Amino acid sequence: MAAMDVISVIRTKRDRARLTDEQIDWVIDAYTRGEVADEQMSALAMAIFLNGMERDEIARWTAAMIASGERMDFSSLPRPTADKHSTGGVGDKITLPLAPLVAACGAAVPQLSGRGLGHTGGTLDKLESIPGWRALLSNDEMLAVLRDVGAVVCAAGDGLAPADKKLYALRDVTGTVESIPLIASSIMSKKIAEGTGSLVLDVKVGSGAFMKNIDDARELARTMVGLGTDHGVKTVALLTDMATPLGLTAGNALEVRESVEVLAGGGPSDVVELTLALAREMLDAAGLKDADPAKALADGSAMDAWRRMIAAQGGDPDAALPTARETQVITAPTSGVLTRLDAYAVGVAAWRLGAGRARKEDPVQAAAGVELHAKPGESVTAGQPLLTLHTDTPEKFDYAQQALTDSYDIGPAGTSYEPNPVVLDRIG
Ligand code: URA
Repeated sequence: MAAMDVISVIRTKRDRARLTDEQIDWVIDAYTRGEVADEQMSALAMAIFLNGMERDEIARWTAAMIASGERMDFSSLPRPTADKHSTGGVGDKITLPLAPLVAACGAAVPQLSGRGLGHTGGTLDKLESIPGWRALLSNDEMLAVLRDVGAVVCAAGDGLAPADKKLYALRDVTGTVESIPLIASSIMSKKIAEGTGSLVLDVKVGSGAFMKNIDDARELARTMVGLGTDHGVKTVALLTDMATPLGLTAGNALEVRESVEVLAGGGPSDVVELTLALAREMLDAAGLKDADPAKALADGSAMDAWRRMIAAQGGDPDAALPTARETQVITAPTSGVLTRLDAYAVGVAAWRLGAGRARKEDPVQAAAGVELHAKPGESVTAGQPLLTLHTDTPEKFDYAQQALTDSYDIGPAGTSYEPNPVVLDRIG
């Protein structure tokens, strides 16, 4: 590849022009090899954040990120592959019940997952609260678990889209996460390189999501569906509500516990509804139109797949989950109807309690997080618990409480409340 001048690449985007294919291929390759410095890539990411990219420019950027590493191949598996990716939310534990559920219905689910980013939780952080469970598998181990169990949730290896690995960490600390071209290319480069046959995207909308309004979420969904389809991956997107946390927990072990409740046939109704909606889309995309995920939840076959999936990665599905050393209860100040409980505020509070990390090398607390005792639409009585904060570091309670100031509204008794639908739209 002919050497180029990184400053001219930055200036091109700074001045709102389209990057040429040659500029894109060169800058991604040179950044991956360490020839373009982090500060230069930060400037380019900010220029992209501010000035955007055209569709074909995003496609080329994504292709260059895929080409920065290896591509996996699941064609030797006897089952069709189906994967799901969420753009990230608060209390979004859906991968945990969904992967074994879809495996129990006959598809293979290669779920390469990430760690928490900002106020949003990470699937690997959640599963690591199960004693013994390990996220790092070799490609051969991953294939073996997929063959034996039908579902694997593990960390993406270093060889998969390494350009994204570097850029994702850089964006996290340079205020350049919430950009449609950068999010779309980041997610789709990993998913296309992973080699899944079909993909269902869960694009979150609302205060707890990176996309705060439905128009931006639709644009992100259309961009990602287009990228997947162009690369031969059958891709659909559901736009789903993230104005309030999903379920009744945000935090690692707390969310594992709630996921197990769903697999046991119970759990909060919004988590069950979204799990089933995504499962139906995945099974449909994989060509398994007759599968019945509601039956697999009810008859215990999804729970069996969960137990085998956890055990295959060294986890003990029967082990007690960690609990926090300290808890603090926030009570309802008045009686009435809870009309708002803000997802972003709950996500930030859980993060401050220790469930998330401020720097990528920070450890997370398995037991930290926020438990909800009421959801919008429910009646509450003055003095009843509204939220319970969990942490091993009680000096963080005040800081977490600050995040929750003005995070909820209670209307007078009888206030009518119209809940947002769990699934807002479908694109694909
Ligand atoms: N998830 C990703 O993988 N990348 C992003 O940029 C945002 C969410």
